[in-house]
Amino acid sequence: MQKFKTYLEKPLKGITVIELPFNAAEIFNIKKGTIRVYGKINGIDYRNKLISRGNGKYVMSVDKKMQKRIGFCGDKIEIEISMQLDESAMYGSGDRTSIKSESCNVDVLTAIKSRRSIRVFTSKDVEKSKIETILEAGFCAPNAKGKRPWHFLVTKNKDFLSKIADSNNHKSFNTANCCIIVCGDKNMEGINEFLLEDCSTSAQNILLAAQGLGLGAVWCGLLKTCSRYKYILDYFNVPNKIIPIAVIALGYPAEKKENTPRYDGTKVHWEVW
Ligand SMILES: Cc1cc2nc3c(=O)[nH]c(=O)nc-3n(C[C@H](O)[C@H](O)[C@H](O)COP(=O)(O)O)c2cc1C
Repeated sequence: MQKFKTYLEKPLKGITVIELPFNAAEIFNIKKGTIRVYGKINGIDYRNKLISRGNGKYVMSVDKKMQKRIGFCGDKIEIEISMQLDESAMYGSGDRTSIKSESCNVDVLTAIKSRRSIRVFTSKDVEKSKIETILEAGFCAPNAKGKRPWHFLVTKNKDFLSKIADSNNHKSFNTANCCIIVCGDKNMEGINEFLLEDCSTSAQNILLAAQGLGLGAVWCGLLKTCSRYKYILDYFNVPNKIIPIAVIALGYPAEKKENTPRYDGTKVHWEVW
């Protein structure tokens, strides 16, 4: 934990910040990416990210709410700060106890080629260990700059599933045993395209893991304008920084689908080979 005293004063322009008297990347041993920290300013808890000013210099903003709480009204004051690296924010908060992964003997190409969207499910309950294994696969997906900006909302609640089924006439959720909502944390990945791509790689891993474990699944897109998007936000009380990207219905398949060859040579443009 770092502790230091400094002065807070109103800048001539821009936001009010605290200048750090040390190189945060070095002190916290962070090679790249956003540095998130927490601690106390004059005894008041804060959680924030640092802003790099280049050359190892970092500042941290102090918003109006915090200014008020520490009694800063524009006149220069001395403040006392403690600061620690917020690892939970960087790698996802919550219980990180290891899970008991299941294994499967389906090879990767078979899983990829046999996977189809399954929209009708049996009443058989999906084992929690399978869901955990599937989530682990989701966490193993490639992601821009290694930020892993995912959160997964998981529920078996039948009322929720039937509400999702009713919204936009999504019948697959009527028989689904459970669903996983893949979400992106926009505070962890500020570039929207990357956030969408990161969530998509994770969603695809989830589908393939489900396939390998003998489950069926269908990825349903979540447009911000659709009623199920709003319903998910309300139901899970999703904070502003979290964006639900895809909702995946899961269960044991009650339909069988043909696998037609999909390779299309007309869309492959070989250059020199
Ligand atoms: C971004 C995205 C959004 C999708 N949204 C829906 C959807 O809202 N409802 C649905 O039944 N399937 C949805 N799907 C599944 C596609 O319809 C399905 O993957 C596609 O028709 C190909 O069929 P296959 O998955 O069986 O190969 C979505 C898939 C993706 C990748």
